[in-house]
Amino acid sequence: MVFEASFFLQNLEAKFCFFFFSFTLTFLFFSLLLFILRVKPWCNCHVCQGFLKSTWSLEYRNLCDWYTHLLRKSPTGTVHVHVLGNTITANPQNVEYMLKTNFHNYPKGKPFSVILGDLLGKGIFNVDGKSWKFQRKMASLELGSVSIRSYAFDVVSSEIRNRLMPLLSSVAAKKDNTALDLQDVFRRFSFDTICKFSFGLDPGCLKLSLPISELAVAFDVASRLSAERAMNVLPLIWKVKRLLNIGSEKKLKEAIRLVNVLSNEVIRHKRENGFSTHKDLLSRFMGSIDDDLYLRDIVISFLLAGRDTVASAMTSFFMLLAEHPEVVSNIRQESDRVMRLTEKSLPSFDQLRDMHYLNAALHESMRLYPPVQFDSKFCQEDDVLPDGTFVRKGTRVTYHPYAMGRMEKIWGPDCLEFKPERWLENGVFRPKCPFKYPVFQAGLRVCLGKELALVEMKSVALSLIRRFDMEVSRPSQTPQFAPGLTATMRGGLPVVVRERTD
Ligand code: HEM
Repeated sequence: MVFEASFFLQNLEAKFCFFFFSFTLTFLFFSLLLFILRVKPWCNCHVCQGFLKSTWSLEYRNLCDWYTHLLRKSPTGTVHVHVLGNTITANPQNVEYMLKTNFHNYPKGKPFSVILGDLLGKGIFNVDGKSWKFQRKMASLELGSVSIRSYAFDVVSSEIRNRLMPLLSSVAAKKDNTALDLQDVFRRFSFDTICKFSFGLDPGCLKLSLPISELAVAFDVASRLSAERAMNVLPLIWKVKRLLNIGSEKKLKEAIRLVNVLSNEVIRHKRENGFSTHKDLLSRFMGSIDDDLYLRDIVISFLLAGRDTVASAMTSFFMLLAEHPEVVSNIRQESDRVMRLTEKSLPSFDQLRDMHYLNAALHESMRLYPPVQFDSKFCQEDDVLPDGTFVRKGTRVTYHPYAMGRMEKIWGPDCLEFKPERWLENGVFRPKCPFKYPVFQAGLRVCLGKELALVEMKSVALSLIRRFDMEVSRPSQTPQFAPGLTATMRGGLPVVVRERTD
């Protein structure tokens, strides 16, 4: 009797395994078929062939440069990469339509949230609908408050005074022309500041010894590998690797585990030791949210949003300044006028606001080198864009700030030149239409940290430009970018730093 029961159970188990296996295979087969039908991997058009065979790399250093070329040539400013199921646009009317007029038809969508879901969970960067609305409202209130702005300003000023300036002075004092990787310095700077601002935690990445921070490394690996998921033509590949816990997916899992351990530790510490008097974002959110997992997700989104973007913007700014000494002189003259010639201390909030030329130079630099080079949404229902492009439900629609900054139709025949003056009218900074310049996105999901980022960038730029001369130690050429969510230069930005003598 016992034998019969065990035989019956084994039989049942075998049948269950068989059905489960067949079901999984059938499911995978149909998903693959659907995917293939949607993205047309057989497409023979020159764009798809150029993409599949990588022939673009014979003429262009970066994929974004090739897309720019295609978009400049397209009469509508829109192109299709059928094999990726992706419609790419540099047409401001289309951008306004997808980010504002018909915003609800262009959410981030499931494909995006699945790719970043393991790292970002339900954080603002990774959600749509009600959850996004709730976090957006809460975060806008916090980021708009005077107290958090002055806290952010204090965090940035202290990092400049106590870490950035001592580090650069010590390098300059060696007088041996050793090159310092400015990109690495800015990445360390922005990680320290965004961690202090978001978590109230100081990873100390920019201490004089340039230590390796476990959190920074884990966060780097996690964001890089998450971004690499998006580059698989077949998403099934990374999903299977994740299921089997092998290769890059195994590394990603380990990196996310470490980020979680450290962030949970910070939250636990705050719960035990009190947070009501703390000024960081996490402490503020803890007042209204009890779910620690949700809190972790919210704050991790801020880390991602505010870290590499600022470092990327600063790196390209200093790369451009090295080729444009006249812009450096203009910034010095303006700051001498606003801060008085001899003033040694860092600029105040009000002084920064009065530096229109500096503001123009930073905007101009991000026009040519936007930290977020492109950004995608997923079309929810069949639609027609203002330029007449038909978009089928489920299509990925990408607006491309990098290409848009290089469009003659938007910026005129001198669009490839670095000219801060194009942002000034009688010496006063005049912002451009955000749908022509969607560097901070635009419309309903416009970047929440824009003002904060600009204050941070102006403070860093001024402190360095007023005190040091910098020479980029490699011949000027188009930078090559590493793949990732944010523009990062391959090989960094090696510079020789000298104390100013003039
Ligand atoms: C130069 C620096 C920065 C640039 C160029 C930039 C650009 C952007 C872009 C393009 C987006 C849209 C991303 C998307 O929806 O896929 C975005 C969103 C966002 N940014 Fe920034 N950002 C910068 C700095 C910051 C900083 C310092 C913070 C935080 C303190 C921040 C917080 C956010 C948040 C919370 C969102 C999500 C908004 C939403 O989904 O409603 N950003 N940013």
